[in-house]
Amino acid sequence: MSERDKYPAESGRRRFVKGVVGGAALAGVGATGAAAINSATQASGAGGGSTQAYAIENTDGPAPRGMPQIPVEIDDEGYLRGVWPEVKTEQQQGVQVTIAETEDFKGSGVTYSTDWFQFCGVESYGGINPEYDSDNYFRSGSSPGYEWQSETYSEGDRLHVDDFSDYQDWTNGVGTEGLGKPATGRWRSEDAEDVIPIQVIKSDRVQEMAQNDPWLEASTEEGFIAWLNKCTHFCCVPQFKAEGSAKFGAEDDVYCQCHQSIYDPFSIVQTLFVARPRPTE
Ligand code: FES
Repeated sequence: MSERDKYPAESGRRRFVKGVVGGAALAGVGATGAAAINSATQASGAGGGSTQAYAIENTDGPAPRGMPQIPVEIDDEGYLRGVWPEVKTEQQQGVQVTIAETEDFKGSGVTYSTDWFQFCGVESYGGINPEYDSDNYFRSGSSPGYEWQSETYSEGDRLHVDDFSDYQDWTNGVGTEGLGKPATGRWRSEDAEDVIPIQVIKSDRVQEMAQNDPWLEASTEEGFIAWLNKCTHFCCVPQFKAEGSAKFGAEDDVYCQCHQSIYDPFSIVQTLFVARPRPTE
């Protein structure tokens, strides 16, 4: 089953129950103030709470905020992977918890943490556990979002920079030709019950954006940018240059077909939200 096919219908009982616990904890935040955020979230799991993430900007539609970036790295052989923060143990309100967090990510001054991805049920996915065993490569899924991927990759193949070399001419017939070449995929999901959907674009626009921007310089590589591809509205999986997006003026954007939310992958903003705690084992 593809990542796109899985949402939003999929909702296993286990996750539903966890979602309710997280929701109840968050519901208390408004009434009891900031001090309650930590105790409420700690009560039902590890990590979470008030979080500032870098995200591709939500520019239209009902989504409350952007989708969080995943810093990109390219290995010596040209394969793309997402950087996972440093795994460490921390004392939080008297409880020992394992977290994944990198302070001052590659000298950018930004604290990058797994909390960025803890929304839409992802907080309970196996791959979001700080200690989940993964090589962190971005892999093509069973039903990729673009024809070029179906022609180039089998399911589980790692995305490679050479396969994006025609990015300055690439088009799928939607929007501006040569704006950038995208791929859909998954991250930290091999052998896991739940798939973490990601999207990647290589574009000159990304390279331009990264000049004189310490965070983008640190989190993008050779014009590649990536993000966790879960709409912050109701958790559908959107797509860059999606079929049917032109009707909504989103032909050069990331478009969520569920309720027409639009995201601009070439505008990176800081976004503040209350991340959900990871469930305790
Ligand atoms: S706009 Fe509603 S789930 Fe994306």
